[in-house]
Amino acid sequence: MGEYNVAVVGATGAVGRMMIKVLEERNFPVKNLRLFASPRSKGVKLKFKGEEIPVEVLEETKSFKGIEIALFSAGAKRSLDYAPLFAKDGAVVIDNSSAWRMDPEVPLVVPEVNPHAVKDYKNKGIIANPNCSTIQMVVALKPLHDYGKIKRVVVSTYQAVSGAGQKAINELEEQVKAWCRGEKMPEAKHIPKTIAFNCVPHIDVFFPNRYTKEEIKMIEETKKIMEDPNIKVTATTVRVPVFYGHAEAVNVETEKKITVEKAFELFKNAPGIVVVDDPENAVYPLQIDVAGKDEVFVGRIREDFSVECGLNLWVVADNLRKGAATNAVQIAEVLIRDYL
Ligand code: A2P
Repeated sequence: MGEYNVAVVGATGAVGRMMIKVLEERNFPVKNLRLFASPRSKGVKLKFKGEEIPVEVLEETKSFKGIEIALFSAGAKRSLDYAPLFAKDGAVVIDNSSAWRMDPEVPLVVPEVNPHAVKDYKNKGIIANPNCSTIQMVVALKPLHDYGKIKRVVVSTYQAVSGAGQKAINELEEQVKAWCRGEKMPEAKHIPKTIAFNCVPHIDVFFPNRYTKEEIKMIEETKKIMEDPNIKVTATTVRVPVFYGHAEAVNVETEKKITVEKAFELFKNAPGIVVVDDPENAVYPLQIDVAGKDEVFVGRIREDFSVECGLNLWVVADNLRKGAATNAVQIAEVLIRDYL
């Protein structure tokens, strides 16, 4: 296997730093690594395999020639503006933002679900990494759909602040510290409302139909990744005062009955899933336990008695890893294994 010139755009952010870490952990064959961020990060150096790499200012770079794979996580605006420039200069962009996800020419990939879609990178030189909440849900849905054909999904999320970036992590920490000191909590800036000791049912912007953009992402992206426009999905997405890891209560209705025993068997044989489910001993997946891990953890598996063919699940994953950086690097692994 060859080695590749890789770039991380948004390298100083919560996801960007995790991308660098995951590239190193998984021993991705990197020949040369270039890092990009905003002018605020001029002079910053970040470590990769023991080496200090200077962060370059994206806006000051005229040519991206020589870069073969670029992992983007610097916000949708940068992805819209710069992904085509990187692609024009010869890179395949794997983009973590929402900018390109629903473009019919851009593949939206979760390697456990639709690795074959990577081939469509050729259309625009861009592959989209799905929304963090969508990724962990579709990993769990895939084996159920293959066996019993999913008709409808009702999901409620419990999402960590790290999904809103490093500044939101700092905001929760500062609010909690102020509360502990008996001081007035700093005002909410990066999450729409106070997040310490609170749950906020507002992630991304509201649409006129009263859903948030995060909810619509889960609905639309699930159909695209599962390659089935007939799966009905509805979602309520909620920010909770957790640093790392998203949890989801997922209700699934299928055409064919899936017993609890069958669901256990399907999950145990599915790639990327760890079953953590022993209610008698109070064993179920927890955000605190999955932080730092790459798999999707499924528990609280039980029949939904209110319908003929239904299951309830509790699905938890590290949103910065499987929900973002790990999934992006896994896409890059498929790309170099099968296409480059
Ligand atoms: P910087 O740290 O220089 O602001 P997060 O989602 O954790 O807030 O991270 C966002 C990432 O996107 C950071 O690496 C940030 O860089 C980067 N970014 C934001 N604005 C720009 C920009 N105009 N050009 C390049 N990178 C940007």
